[in-house]
Formats: sequence, structure tokens, C-alpha cells
Amino acid sequence: ADMARFIAALPKAEYHVHLEGTLEAEMKFALAKRNGLDLPFADVAAMKASYRYHDLPSFLAIYYDGMQVLRTQQDFYDLAYAYLARAASQNILYAEMFFDPQEHLKRGVPMAAVIGGITRARQDAAAKLGVRSQLILCFVRDLTAQSAMAALDAGLPFRDQLVAVGLDSDEKDNPPTKFAAHFAKARAAGLKVTAHCDLNQKDILDHLRQAIVELQVDRIDHGGNILESPELIAAAKARNLTFTVCPTFSGTVRGEAPPVDVVRGMIDAGLTLTINSDDPAYMGSEYLNDVLVKAQARSALTRKELVMLSRNAFNAGWMDEGYRAACL
Ligand code: ADE
Ligand code: ZN
Repeated sequence: ADMARFIAALPKAEYHVHLEGTLEAEMKFALAKRNGLDLPFADVAAMKASYRYHDLPSFLAIYYDGMQVLRTQQDFYDLAYAYLARAASQNILYAEMFFDPQEHLKRGVPMAAVIGGITRARQDAAAKLGVRSQLILCFVRDLTAQSAMAALDAGLPFRDQLVAVGLDSDEKDNPPTKFAAHFAKARAAGLKVTAHCDLNQKDILDHLRQAIVELQVDRIDHGGNILESPELIAAAKARNLTFTVCPTFSGTVRGEAPPVDVVRGMIDAGLTLTINSDDPAYMGSEYLNDVLVKAQARSALTRKELVMLSRNAFNAGWMDEGYRAACL
């Protein structure tokens, strides 16, 4: 309880949270009603009971199905504002949030509605709640490279509302190099680049190598498999890379606690990491403080290490340097 209070009181920043993964069942029902859509669930409890998955593809099917209720600019406003209000209540001062525009463009929702709604929510949350945030446009890596390029082109007119591009969804047979041209174009527009690397199967070290060495990404999302490669650990340290680790995701999606304590392993290897919530609405509605409480227990994190993780986050953010200095 003492530790929980310590964690709650820590000033925090979060960089690995998918906005569509913060869409709570209650809001899904509200948006479905507003948009005249039928949901195949009797109530919130039945919907939540359907959140059963055993691997990344079975998780993603539920996650993509859930986001279909998002239709209007107001829907995206409500989604982003709810996350930012929750963040503010958990003493998160700053967040960089992912979104998956390809999925919304597919349904005919214009990029202007998606980014417009989120941006208004960010502005209101900054003004009313004091929580700052930025936005990372993610490529859905199992869709085609052309689809990702179309999303980037649709996003670039809103370049000022974006801070980076990322890479999420099903990693199997969708290596980072599939998006080399997209990353180059994003970089040329002044955006940062990050990528999920969490395959946990045969190609993962190659994906990490591509991301870290070949494509020189600015952060890695997940990335715990790096512990299997001393060379890659050295390369990541040489580049001062930060890893956004999500202990709940790795535990839940694989249907069992992972055999390796990635958080402890990465800290002891001298890597720079932060702890994040990923898709809280689909992971027992556990937001960052809840995730940190569990990680503290599982990985025997000391108070000093918790402070270090928080400091890591403020150091790794793509925020204005004046604001960073004020947070540190
Ligand atoms: N999309 C939403 N959350 C994701 C995750 N943790 N990994 C890959 N794709 C995702
Ligand atoms: Zn993720």
C-alpha cells in the first residue's frame, strides 16, 4: 500500500499507449448508441467477458473489432479526452499516444476527423487538466505497404499535430524494413520514428537489428527479446535507445506470465526502459499506476529504480526542451 502510494505520487510520462486500446466497454456502448450501431453484446459485462485472447492475432481481432464504433470527430475527441483525464488522475504529466489511422480510413472516416478530434482533446486536456501530450501515427504493419503510405500521405498535411510515426499490429512476416520508405519520408518531414519489436519467435532478433542498426529508429516499443543478443544490447546502448516496455501486454497476450522477467533483465543489462500500459481497456482496465504496482512486485523494483524509470521517460520524450527541463 505504501508502494502503491509512492507510485501514484510519482510524476510520470507514458509513451506506449494505443488510443484505440483505451476504448472502454462503457464508451463503446455510448458511441454505438450515438452512431446508431448495433453491438453483438447484451451489456458491458458480456462485452468484457469476450475479451479473451491467447496470442497477438487473437488480441488484435478483438481490438480492431472494438474500434469500429469510432466514426466522428467527436468520437475521437471523447476517446482521447477520456484517456488524458485518466492520465491526469494518475499523475501522468505527459503522454505520446499511438493511433491506427489505416483502420479508420478503411471505414471511410477522414483523417481530418481522426486527428482533428484527438488534437482538440489534447488542447482541452492541456488547458483544463494540465496534462500535455503528442501523437504518433502508427502503420498497421500487416496491411500493405501502399496502404501505410496512403495513411502517411493523408497524415502529412497534419504534420504539426504529429510527433512521430510508429509500427504496430501483427509482426509475423512484417519486418521493419517493409517500411523503410515510409520512415525515410516521415524523417524528411521532421518526424521521429519508433517501431514495435515483440514477435517473440524466430525472426525477432533480425527485426530488432533492422530497427536499431539498419533503420536507426529513435525508440523501440517492447523489445525485450534484445536480452538474447549481447551485440544488439551494445548497439542499443551506443545509440542511447529507450525501450517502451509493457509488462501487462507481454504477460496477458501470451496467456501466461513470460518465463523471463524482461523488466528486471533490461534494468540489470543497463538498458534504458520505461513502463507503459499499451491497451488498458483490453487488459483489465489497468492503467499506468496499476501496471507499475504489478511490475514493482514482480520485478522487485526499488523506489530508486521507480524514480529512474520515471526519469527515463522524461528523458526519452519528444517534447519541447523547456518543458522537459521543467519536468526533470
Ligand atoms: N496494436 C495495439 N496494441 C498492440 C501491441 N501491443 N502490439 C502490436 N500491435 C498493437
Ligand atoms: Zn503496443
